[in-house]
Amino acid sequence: MSASLSRPRTGVWLIGARGSVATTVVTGCAAVTAGLHPPTGMVTETPLFAGSALPALSDLVFGGHDTLDCPLPKRAEALTAGGVLPPGVASAVAAELAAADREIRHGGPTSGDTRGEAELVTDFADDIRDFTHRHRLERTVVINVASTEPASGGPGAPLPASTLYALAALRAGCPYVNFTPSEGMHHPAAARAAERTSLPHAGRDGKTGQTLLRAVLGPMFAQRALTVRAWSGTNLLGGGDGAALADPAAAAAKNAGKERVLADTLGTVPEGEVHIDDVPALGDWKTAWDHIAFDGFLGTRMILQTIWQGCDSALAAPLVLDLARLAARAHQAGLTGPLGDLGFYFKDPVGAGPASLAEQYTALTALGQRLRPPAGGERAPGERQ
Ligand SMILES: NC(=O)c1ccc[n+]([C@@H]2O[C@H](COP(=O)([O-])OP(=O)(O)OC[C@H]3O[C@@H](n4cnc5c(N)ncnc54)[C@H](O)[C@@H]3O)[C@@H](O)[C@H]2O)c1
Repeated sequence: MSASLSRPRTGVWLIGARGSVATTVVTGCAAVTAGLHPPTGMVTETPLFAGSALPALSDLVFGGHDTLDCPLPKRAEALTAGGVLPPGVASAVAAELAAADREIRHGGPTSGDTRGEAELVTDFADDIRDFTHRHRLERTVVINVASTEPASGGPGAPLPASTLYALAALRAGCPYVNFTPSEGMHHPAAARAAERTSLPHAGRDGKTGQTLLRAVLGPMFAQRALTVRAWSGTNLLGGGDGAALADPAAAAAKNAGKERVLADTLGTVPEGEVHIDDVPALGDWKTAWDHIAFDGFLGTRMILQTIWQGCDSALAAPLVLDLARLAARAHQAGLTGPLGDLGFYFKDPVGAGPASLAEQYTALTALGQRLRPPAGGERAPGERQ
């Protein structure tokens, strides 16, 4: 963005930098910075984080990897035509989109790529380091917003691309966030490497719609001592995410996180499944329908149904901006390892935090306080430059 070079700036390196979520992140950050729109949906812009010394939105610099070549301004045009971005915003921030576009490097592996895993990790890490150094950034947060991958094939199988990127983030000394259900840092190879570093990381799979509701409603049934007999869900969505999730193996990775929240909040796994249907005509708009069968006093049978109609990228982008700022500040404050206090944002959070949204919000509030620099301006123990 256009902040003075003398101010410390933070890099945000997006894996999947030409996707819908990434394009909405870059466009939205520029639009909010320019005062064109309020920061609706950004928890880091609420009083909870006043005084937590998070990097300003105007001090974020974007780059990333993608395997597609479509320029970011063109992606923003398509999102505007689809009604995801409001008319006029993409053209108002065309300079910021072009600047981010110049910082997108070709990712991988793509078909015909002859590089082995070690070489890919080295190349990705070099790209991230080069970006950080050229822009004289204080630090760079790596955030995975690439297409959902199927679960990897177990011991001996090739490392999934998300894990190669996670290893590259560690190699480049960057805090890491996995906003997708892909394995990333969860793969044993990356988890072992992460333990050897002091880098903070968070994930996985942003909680933006159906699972957000489940994290509120699950605790309600448990606290009211109502017996949930079955909880079934259907999602209809299009866009790149809908196409990726048409692959049953990728959908299975996504659904595991949606089901975990029920097991964790109800203490039991009710009957019922989650289905994801690719409906290209819906574009980025998702309809999520949940049908909850429960028993009341004397076994009286009842039903709750919810219908969530959301624009996926508009729901995800403010969370990605929040996470970039929080992970950067956590790194600066000397926090290390899995950031369990960020469970508020994820379907399948790292660490051993609570599963109910209310308790996750309490944990996030406590984190906001822990990130406050000590009064008087001296550096807290463990604080990094
Ligand atoms: N939007 C939401 O509400 C939400 C919520 C939770 C998670 N997510 C996850 O965010 C991710 C992005 O969603 P989206 O709607 O932007 O999808 P998208 O299909 O629009 O974008 C994904 C991008 O990833 C790129 N990509 C694929 N493989 C790559 C690789 N190996 N290296 C680099 N780039 C690669 C694609 O080219 C594409 O540009 C998905 O995994 C989705 O499940 C989204």
